[in-house]
Amino acid sequence: MQNMSDDHTHVQEFFTARAADWDSRFPDDGPAYAAAVADLALREGDRVLDAGCGTGRALPPLRAAVGPSGVVVGADLTPAMLEQAVRAGRDRDGRLMLADVTALPLRSQSLDAVFGAGLISHLPDPAANLRELARVVRPGGTLALFHPIGRAALAARQGRRITPDDLRAEPRLRPLLAASGWRMTSYVDEDVRFLVLAVREA
Ligand SMILES: C[S@@+](CC[C@H](N)C(=O)[O-])C[C@H]1O[C@@H](n2cnc3c(N)ncnc32)[C@H](O)[C@@H]1O
Repeated sequence: MQNMSDDHTHVQEFFTARAADWDSRFPDDGPAYAAAVADLALREGDRVLDAGCGTGRALPPLRAAVGPSGVVVGADLTPAMLEQAVRAGRDRDGRLMLADVTALPLRSQSLDAVFGAGLISHLPDPAANLRELARVVRPGGTLALFHPIGRAALAARQGRRITPDDLRAEPRLRPLLAASGWRMTSYVDEDVRFLVLAVREA
């Protein structure tokens, strides 16, 4: 990838430093990822992108959901995260791609769904970037924005307060999605998970 922006360089530096122990820092998240993937209601044979897949923690449940005839692609900007995914054997569950999800090397409407865990707060231009995710999904396809911890619990862990201007607050996220080609169908923000589901508008 050429012409890396400052935002992308920052993301890569941040996650390169954390890649080696990413999975061991959050060893108990597996069931939460599996439950979030289940809520995405994928079908056998579906084509799904894990946007910002990191070490590929969502790839096994995504593969289980779409079966052997489905297509699972994991895209991430940080080589060190993808290397950890390979080390964990998660390249068996999906095709890993070093790619920027704000400019995907994928055909328009080529996917049934996008799963994005811990992604949205790292996007440099959320409206445009969510529009790019909408571009690659067919009308009626779905989006899940997930985090295995809710906003308030995450803020407490980081020693800060949640504010209403937080991008992931429902009053902000719903119109942002609507302006980007997505209709929000579900919003859950509990201590143990943040999960937003949306459908790609025609
Ligand atoms: C908080 S981590 C989450 C990783 C993984 N989804 C998980 O749940 O364990 C965010 C990931 O998004 C990736 N990322 C951030 N911005 C990106 C972009 N524009 N394109 C592709 N990946 C990106 C980072 O490299 C990092 O691996």
